[in-house]
Amino acid sequence: MSDGLPSGGFSRGRRLRSTPALRRLTAQTRLAPADFVLPVFVKQGIDEPVAIRSMPGVVQHTLDSLRKAAHEAAEAGIGGVMLFGIPGEKDPVGSQADAADGIVNVALRQLRADLGDELVLIADLCLCEYTDHGHCGVVTSTGVVDNDPTLDRYAAVAVAQARAGAHVIAPSGMMDGQVAAIRRALDGAASPETPILAYAAKYASSFYGPFREAAEGAPRFGDRSTYQMDPPNADEALREVAQDLAEGADAVMVKPALPYLDIITRVADAVHVPVSAYQVSGEYAMVEAAAANGWVDRERAILETLTAIRRAGAGTVLTYWAVEAARLLR
Ligand code: PBG
Repeated sequence: MSDGLPSGGFSRGRRLRSTPALRRLTAQTRLAPADFVLPVFVKQGIDEPVAIRSMPGVVQHTLDSLRKAAHEAAEAGIGGVMLFGIPGEKDPVGSQADAADGIVNVALRQLRADLGDELVLIADLCLCEYTDHGHCGVVTSTGVVDNDPTLDRYAAVAVAQARAGAHVIAPSGMMDGQVAAIRRALDGAASPETPILAYAAKYASSFYGPFREAAEGAPRFGDRSTYQMDPPNADEALREVAQDLAEGADAVMVKPALPYLDIITRVADAVHVPVSAYQVSGEYAMVEAAAANGWVDRERAILETLTAIRRAGAGTVLTYWAVEAARLLR
């Protein structure tokens, strides 16, 4: 051999990489449209979709533009959509989250009527888009997020979302006991079949920055580090996941995704329920910004990040590129 290496007797990595067909045949991780869930924002009181500056290509939808986007998502063959509502009015307890005529519940009813069971409709369950202070729960007079009164609010919101047509309820507020409270409420409201996808390991992350522009839910004071997880901690993620499963979660999520691939792997190894990962707004913005500058190849970077998240062990990836990635895979 010209390179001086023997042709047999030990593994030569390059043998299986020499053509696209060989690489395709030996790829260990594959992406499929059904793996993706598209997070969508619907805002009350706007006539036209509103662009989100920090997330090029993502908008706050009107009810009509959301319907159109959901049809396109179904056509692209993705697994589902995750709904976030932005109400016209906010108050200390986030009343619009469970109002029957609240924007997210109206949107859920319309999408369910339009699409039936074609696309899985997942309702994000949190209060931060609905409270005037921007925290994920109700707060005490001294500004502390109050765990147990928040659970009562989450229970009411879960019931409203299930009634409106959500196929899955996804609590993202990181209150202790939230899964148990929601499970109890759903069972009591004749929705025992509605599954809970728990944002089980959700870190207090800088990568949520652009989302706070999209969902208009930035905290007015303090931050979320008393309820979301501390980035240095890994064992704690396994504890949170175990706790949520014990409380009745049907599936669990790790969030963000790319900076937490080790957590995705550890969770996927530890449990036997579906594991999803949320590629969050800041992960999206990073690639879009670099691509806009010509610093990375946009499409390759998108597919590479999605592949990495799946390779780490996530079955489902929530991603703002869901529909585009599905089309790239055609
Ligand atoms: C609300 C919520 C957030 C995200 C999803 N649900 C923001 C936060 O916790 O501050 C972030 C999603 C993203 O950044 O794409 N609890």
